[in-house]
Amino acid sequence: MKGIFTGIFQKKKIGDDFATDLMPHQHLKRCLSALDLTLLGIGAIIGAGIFILTGLAAATKAGPAITLSFVVAGFACGFSALSYAELSSTIGGCGSAYGYAYAGFGEIFAWIIGWDLILEYGVACAAVAIGWSAYFNKMLGIFGWHVPTVWLTSPLAGGIIDLPAFLIMLGIAFLLVLGVKASARVNAIVVLIKLITIAIFMAITSRYVDIQNWNSFMPFGWTGVMSGAAMIFFAYIGFDAVSTAAEEAIDPKRDLPIGIISSLIICTVVYIVVAALLTLVAPYASLNTASPVADVLVRLGHATAGSLIAVGALAGLTTVILVMFYGMSRVTYAMSRDGLLVEYLARLHPKHNTPSRILLISGFVIAVIAATLPIGDIAELVNIGTLAAFVMVNVGVIVLRRTRPELKRPFRVPFGIWLPILGILFCAYLMFSLPWVTWLRFLVWLIIGMAIYFLHLKSRAKQSAP
Ligand code: ALA
Repeated sequence: MKGIFTGIFQKKKIGDDFATDLMPHQHLKRCLSALDLTLLGIGAIIGAGIFILTGLAAATKAGPAITLSFVVAGFACGFSALSYAELSSTIGGCGSAYGYAYAGFGEIFAWIIGWDLILEYGVACAAVAIGWSAYFNKMLGIFGWHVPTVWLTSPLAGGIIDLPAFLIMLGIAFLLVLGVKASARVNAIVVLIKLITIAIFMAITSRYVDIQNWNSFMPFGWTGVMSGAAMIFFAYIGFDAVSTAAEEAIDPKRDLPIGIISSLIICTVVYIVVAALLTLVAPYASLNTASPVADVLVRLGHATAGSLIAVGALAGLTTVILVMFYGMSRVTYAMSRDGLLVEYLARLHPKHNTPSRILLISGFVIAVIAATLPIGDIAELVNIGTLAAFVMVNVGVIVLRRTRPELKRPFRVPFGIWLPILGILFCAYLMFSLPWVTWLRFLVWLIIGMAIYFLHLKSRAKQSAP
């Protein structure tokens, strides 16, 4: 029995080239610049959160003070982004928070956080693919076409499958197999499209600002602002995925902090301006629609611009799936390379140097989930999973400052450990603002993870027994 538990608290040495233990000739290709990383961050961040959730959160949670909710969630993410920047430049590795937990706390914590990240990215991809499918149909509507409802609906909700959700997920998996540089190029173009559509939204709506819409600024009080923040926190998720590019960045120690922090700053500014404009041009109670950003423009008499926003939203959702799935594949790759998941997954494609087995197998699994399960409404599960990872990363900075003060830290969070402490407090507060059912789902996922870990440990112990 003792043998089984040996090693569960074992830490990974910082600076280990993790790849060399198992796969002597396998390395991901270093090809991403600081600009690529920033655009990947923006690609992952701006998506369903701003285009879909903002209206719902304004109408039902915070009122015009949704603008403040964006500030609060922005702070929680800002502190955590600084911690991500420190650990990614100090420890590196494509496993992101999984790798930091391995170095700072030991194998079992690494497993928990890796398992948590797989949930975060996997559910985010499936949920966003379902949203993508709805927007795709909306965009076809501009040309007078549509996908038959049974091909848009999961079998559990009376349809056949959600075909567009299935196809976009598989398409992105194939794109990522071709290489991260090719994917980053596609990402850059699509990010540009979504930023242009957001700029159009800002330019038009700024002419219709009516300050009276802010007369009742905080109709649901401070509690409403906080539960609004817990909901739209989803809009910020994604900058963390940049840290999974550590082994593909040309100069990770310099460029990862730049990519993580600048993408978050740009998106925070965009979000606060969009949220303010939305609630300044329309009464907050009227924003509870599936596509508030587009609908507001239509209501203001700009139907063509409204259609353009649908295109921007589609672009936004595409890059969110792309970068989230990229992140998931890199964390899974790191875990399988370390022997925590089956080693079969850790082989790279001989020509493209990408973890093609992981991309194709998990891409297919997520595509099937998106096509068959009505899980669009469990985005909050992504929030709790991400917040848990953020807490771990902030704790990681504090612990490593104490246990490994001598480490070279190319990027250092300023003001000692105060900002990571604030990061923990903000994230924990947001976690506790989430509904209990989200906690329950999260705990079930963690229990399944622990069961797999110990079963896997048992089989490893058996294999290594003389
Ligand atoms: N931040 C991403 C989005 O809003 C997950 O879609």
